[in-house]
Amino acid sequence: MLCAGKKSYFAAAVCIMTVTSMLAVSYLKLQRLSHQPKVIQEGRRCRGKIAISTITALEGNKTFIISPYFDDRESKVTRLIGIVHHEDVKQLYCWFCCQANGKIYVSKAKIDVHSDRFGFPYGAADIVCLEPKNCDPTHVSIHQSPHGNIDQLPRFEIKNRKPETFSVDFTVCISAMFGNYNNVLQFIQSMEMYKILGVQKVVIYKNNCSHLMEKVLKFYIEEGTVEVIPWPINSHLRVSSKWRFMQDGTHIGYYGQITALNDCIYRNMERSKFVVLNDADEIILPLKHPDWKTMMNSLREQNPGTSVFLFENHIFPETVSSRTFNISSWNTVPGVNILQHVYREPDRKDVINPRKMIVDPRKVIQTSVHSVLRAYGKSVYVPMDVALIYHCRKALQGNLPRESLIRDTTLWKYNSSLIMNVNKVLSQTMLQTKN
Ligand SMILES: *[C@@H]1O[C@H](CO)[C@@H](O)[C@H](O)[C@H]1NC(C)=O
Ligand SMILES: *[C@@H]1O[C@H](CO)[C@@H](O)[C@H](O)[C@H]1NC(C)=O
Ligand SMILES: *[C@@H]1O[C@H](CO)[C@@H](O)[C@H](O)[C@H]1NC(C)=O
Ligand SMILES: *[C@@H]1O[C@H](CO)[C@@H](O)[C@H](O)[C@H]1NC(C)=O
Repeated sequence: MLCAGKKSYFAAAVCIMTVTSMLAVSYLKLQRLSHQPKVIQEGRRCRGKIAISTITALEGNKTFIISPYFDDRESKVTRLIGIVHHEDVKQLYCWFCCQANGKIYVSKAKIDVHSDRFGFPYGAADIVCLEPKNCDPTHVSIHQSPHGNIDQLPRFEIKNRKPETFSVDFTVCISAMFGNYNNVLQFIQSMEMYKILGVQKVVIYKNNCSHLMEKVLKFYIEEGTVEVIPWPINSHLRVSSKWRFMQDGTHIGYYGQITALNDCIYRNMERSKFVVLNDADEIILPLKHPDWKTMMNSLREQNPGTSVFLFENHIFPETVSSRTFNISSWNTVPGVNILQHVYREPDRKDVINPRKMIVDPRKVIQTSVHSVLRAYGKSVYVPMDVALIYHCRKALQGNLPRESLIRDTTLWKYNSSLIMNVNKVLSQTMLQTKN
């Protein structure tokens, strides 16, 4: 070191002073690296641009921010739902700009990459920061460093700051509509079934769909049922259409479905009593109750302390049709008429049917597709005699003859209101197409 070998007392004194100030600096650095928010600038206004896109890339394209949410279920934190490169993103800092006192606080984020990354380099992550006291920040910025100029960083609005009373009972989250989606008839039927079963809101993370589908979405947005969240994930990352990494150079699985589902839970935490996580070709059909509300009341009563209800998926192949409900005016609409598909595949030995969920969003911390990863309450499997998931799609057991399938006409219970409602939507949206 420079200090060694210096002989004069003066030099020794300078040396001691330097060491002392070095210690002071590193002590400060240590403090700044702590998770506790620290004031780093005073007398400042917040000038960063407010981010408006659903997916915002941070510098370097290794971190993507979807949205921050206020979460005081344990301590007062800002939880950002995001996507990170699981190895390259080691440190992030929340910059809180307090309007009230003009102070800027920085706190080190806890980065929690969800465990179900399925081999992809990028995955859903919670970026969690302790909030400064007496501030109730409305916005936050994220930076790789605790130093720099906050004015250069995008600011994100922190949602769920104010508690709301529930405005709806059931919100369905459809996590990724992609690949020029054009299964219009099945989509409308699912929407109308959800409404018959008690849903007031459907949130759709839309990557891409057909022109006709856009018309249908517009109809439901105007009706107040659908909220579309733009999901342009493929303009940031190479997306896989598979859920598992195939060593093919893609970055993230199934159009970032898991991130969308987590965002949907937090986005609806304050406004929906229950959140339903399923795909557009899946419908949870109650077998003992007329709708979801009575079913959930009964399930909640029987399962105190439970916040996650798992329903078993059953395949109704779109290749096996019944001639009943062959409605001629529907034959020109692209997509599947689910009323004609009432044969379900039998269970296979050694194959577990996947499950989808109805959850109390306030009790969920992290979710995956077929189960929650972290929650405050218990999960319960809902038995087959209470409900099943009607899932009309390509066969999984394609070589089974019709005689080996199980005829299951549960869906037909709803035939008359379903047909009437679908006709209403078709007449309105198909008229719009001609304009
Ligand atoms: C990040 O991605 C954008 C396109 O989405 C690209 O223009 C930019 O060069 C990338 N930046 C880095 C550092 O890779
Ligand atoms: C949707 O994706 C298809 C290709 O998969 C593409 O041809 C089409 O232009 C895209 N549509 C929109 C609206 O981006
Ligand atoms: C439905 O009816 C049309 C004629 O209106 C017929 O061409 C078609 O094969 C029928 N489909 C089924 C599955 O019965
Ligand atoms: C259609 O629903 C009505 C009641 O709305 C019912 O009487 C009828 O049996 C149903 N049709 C079939 C084929 O199940």
